[in-house]
Amino acid sequence: MQRKPYVAGNWKMWGTRAQTRAYCPRLLELLPPPPQRRADVALCVPFTALDVCLEAVRGGDVRVLAQNMHQAPEGAHTGEISAPMLTELGVHGVVLGHSERRRDHCETDRALREKLPVALAAGLEPILCVGETEEEREQGETERRLRQQVWEALEDVADERLADVVIAYEPVWAIGTGRTATPEQAQEAIAFIRALVADRSREAAARVRILYGGSVKPENAAEILAQPDVDGALVGGASLDPESFAQIVAAAP
Ligand code: G3P
Repeated sequence: MQRKPYVAGNWKMWGTRAQTRAYCPRLLELLPPPPQRRADVALCVPFTALDVCLEAVRGGDVRVLAQNMHQAPEGAHTGEISAPMLTELGVHGVVLGHSERRRDHCETDRALREKLPVALAAGLEPILCVGETEEEREQGETERRLRQQVWEALEDVADERLADVVIAYEPVWAIGTGRTATPEQAQEAIAFIRALVADRSREAAARVRILYGGSVKPENAAEILAQPDVDGALVGGASLDPESFAQIVAAAP
């Protein structure tokens, strides 16, 4: 089945309102108009830049995503943001389970199991991040870890909604390190994740989009994106420069 490529830029903790106002028009100048654009494009921006980014891309098809969401609709969760707060803004989706949130905020697979159905019910397209650490890979634990992350996070997602979840395979050892996974490593891990989805629903496995993230750059993007099971990229550092990010989008097959 043909799956439309999807390239998302994760700004992480970058992007003041002023930087966002400067970035977005430049990116829109660089991207081909939607009919000629082969890939879906998203920007995952800090909470304080969401409304500015939405305004800057209004009328086009660039998606604007948040970088996290709490599973509760409201309550005593200092520093958190709920799905209703995101949908009220008009946000298109949300990145969940990024390794930096697992590291810095003790995000658990259990919490992701609770967050995914909430995001889907709210109409927020989730990008679920999974990936092994260097130690897990060196110990031959990659598939065990990916199985645990994918199965737990998708546990309460109905079979018919599985393909509405975008999955991003982001080996922790490749994030921000310049040590990009080889195209073969990316293909192998993403094919394994697709097989995990197929264990639930073969139809969903054919439709679900699975991205690669971890030191994607303009010079390595085309070979990674050309892999049969790789449907796109979740780009960190290289997305902070609109020229680089536009080149990565253009590399989609
Ligand atoms: O979410 C994408 C991010 O983790 C990858 O970061 O800088 O290695 O492209 P980077």
